[in-house]
Amino acid sequence: MTIREILKMGDERLLRVAPAVTEFDTDALHQLISDMFDTMRAVSGAGLAAPQIGVDLQLVIFGTDEVNPRYPDAPLVPRTVLLNPVITPIGTGEEEDWEGCLSVPGLRGMVPRHTHIRYTGFDQYGDVIDRTVEGFHARVVQHECDHLIGKLYPMRIRDFTQFGYTSVLFPGLDAGDD
Ligand code: NI
Repeated sequence: MTIREILKMGDERLLRVAPAVTEFDTDALHQLISDMFDTMRAVSGAGLAAPQIGVDLQLVIFGTDEVNPRYPDAPLVPRTVLLNPVITPIGTGEEEDWEGCLSVPGLRGMVPRHTHIRYTGFDQYGDVIDRTVEGFHARVVQHECDHLIGKLYPMRIRDFTQFGYTSVLFPGLDAGDD
């Protein structure tokens, strides 16, 4: 079990545009993904992108098979490893909801996202992933994939009156380190 350090906002490595993964099903890739799941679980993250641990690759993980204490009301999202993702919005629907980020600890903000998306990419073995999703699942994918183009959720906030400390906005929420 290896828990990696999560980079925090202000670190320039979070602002890079990550290159695609070109080799699948390698020992190094499996080890990296294992470390990312260990790290995400240790801090009850909803997702984690490789750039957040300083690895400049188009690789995100998200989802759990159990309720996340940081997002107790969120629907379950299947545990997913996604490489070289491409997101296509479906329709023009948008909705705003609260987001947090392990690279922006202690804060939450109201972020607009596409309500319905299709996302494609590959798993760690190079098998195709192609899903059409909505709501929280779509939000998590958009948030994580933003990390691959150097975007953190505060850059998406439109109304900064809806941005603040988790402990103030949601007193009583077991948000851990977030
Ligand atoms: Ni994040």
